[in-house]
Amino acid sequence: MWLSNSSIGRKVVMSVTGIALVLFLTFHMAMNLVALFSAEGYNMVCEFLGANWYALVATVGLAALFVIHIIYAFWLTIQNRAARGNERYAVNTRPKNVEWASQNMLALGVIVILGLALHFYNFWYKMQFAEIVGNPMMGGLHAADGYGYIMQTFASPVFFVLYLVWLAALWFHLTHGFWSSMQTLGWNNTIWINRWKCISNIYATIIVLGFALVAVVFFCKNLMGCGAC
Ligand code: HEM
Repeated sequence: MWLSNSSIGRKVVMSVTGIALVLFLTFHMAMNLVALFSAEGYNMVCEFLGANWYALVATVGLAALFVIHIIYAFWLTIQNRAARGNERYAVNTRPKNVEWASQNMLALGVIVILGLALHFYNFWYKMQFAEIVGNPMMGGLHAADGYGYIMQTFASPVFFVLYLVWLAALWFHLTHGFWSSMQTLGWNNTIWINRWKCISNIYATIIVLGFALVAVVFFCKNLMGCGAC
């Protein structure tokens, strides 16, 4: 099949799954901002996204997107390295900041995966999984208490720093991944590719700053000892 047999087909799969994941991140970041304004409102959203059938279908779809994106990333990297041999970067005329991210996409992706594993332990395991196995208090708080779990997570300076490192890797990954997808999908004339690079930088910054803001605010709330202020 073209999508798995050809190099361009595999790149299209990476691009389409990547764009779908960016859409998820946009929704997730916007949803998290609710926690800055209302604990009750945020927990209502979490309850809606609990172990209901539609949320479980969405989780399975999301997991499939992640798995396909990751498998194809390794596949393409192995194929590119085999094609280039030892001369991995003999010619390179890309701008400096993009160059670094583009040459380290797999390493950045691996940091993103490790961060996701930690994140799943902090939230998904104690929330949706706890509900699935019928033990809603498994993480010490109720499974729908997303606000409480954000407080719990960012009470730890270690988790706070790890999340910031994770978000920095995500920023680099997105700045390259987004415009690169557009290039793969055909918007690669000289005018549009520069526009896409600019849009990628702005969009990645908005997404990452949104997540980071929640981490910083909840870390500060913990420092000041205010549970629901
Ligand atoms: C400060 C940053 C973040 C906070 C506070 C946060 C919070 C949460 C919470 C509360 C949930 C559980 C929602 C529920 O099941 O009801 C969740 C799930 C999840 N988060 Fe995050 N998140 C953050 C950053 C991220 C980032 C950067 C990513 C991806 C790179 C991410 C990916 C996910 C995924 C894939 C799930 C599982 C969704 C599902 O079950 O369908 N999160 N997060």
